[in-house]
Amino acid sequence: MKLFLQALVIVPTALGALLVDFNAARGDDPSVLGLRNLEAARDDKRSDNAADLYIKAEKDANGTAAAHFHRDKGNIRAEYHALNKKTQADKTYWIGYDFAVPKIQKSLMIWQFKEFVANNANDNGANIPLALEFIDSKHLQFQYQASGTDKRVGQWQKNIIPNRRYKIGIAINTGAPGWVELYVDGKQQGLGEGAVKRLTANTFPGRADPKFGAYRGEEIEMDTFVYDVQIGESKADVARAAGF
Ligand SMILES: *[C@@H]1O[C@H](CO)[C@@H](O)[C@H](O)[C@H]1NC(C)=O
Repeated sequence: MKLFLQALVIVPTALGALLVDFNAARGDDPSVLGLRNLEAARDDKRSDNAADLYIKAEKDANGTAAAHFHRDKGNIRAEYHALNKKTQADKTYWIGYDFAVPKIQKSLMIWQFKEFVANNANDNGANIPLALEFIDSKHLQFQYQASGTDKRVGQWQKNIIPNRRYKIGIAINTGAPGWVELYVDGKQQGLGEGAVKRLTANTFPGRADPKFGAYRGEEIEMDTFVYDVQIGESKADVARAAGF
């Protein structure tokens, strides 16, 4: 009986495993996020930071510590690829992502859950099962792509104010189907036509991993600032970065 009571006390506060933990205010280097992906023109990949394309620990315009993702006009990618080859099927990953974007551009993708294995004609897996993409100069959309022959379809959107921090929370159950939930500044958002809390979705055609930063929208010089990223196995794991 005593053991049973102890278990009841411990369970509600139990944390899963914190898999990624980046906090700029603490002085973390952005490299703790994973693999740095820099691409100037398409397929012109860069291994090192340069003045026209980089991701560095810097300060935003307010003097706040952040990972600064910078691209000169024409450069298409400054992203960190987290959990490379580490994501697994039939698991639930919680992601907290605290960012600001000074200048918004249509087609800028600031987050993707990108497929790496089944995104081919034979397997017909979506190339980007889940994404956060600006659809114009104001609105950030949460998108879901069901298969390789389906388009990315908006499930939610929000008017984003430039130069303001937002804390995004995303829960992904990896499966076909699995499911996804979205939170903004700690508040759960409705997804899809029914504005459901939990959207059933093919989130994991083969192996999909999360990527953070700036992809596409290369028509203008682009900067994004990332203050905090946590990826864990429970909601409590990512409370700081997601604003729970
Ligand atoms: C910078 O400071 C201004 C004024 O306090 C505030 O409105 C804005 O949200 C801040 N920007 C960021 C990215 O924190």
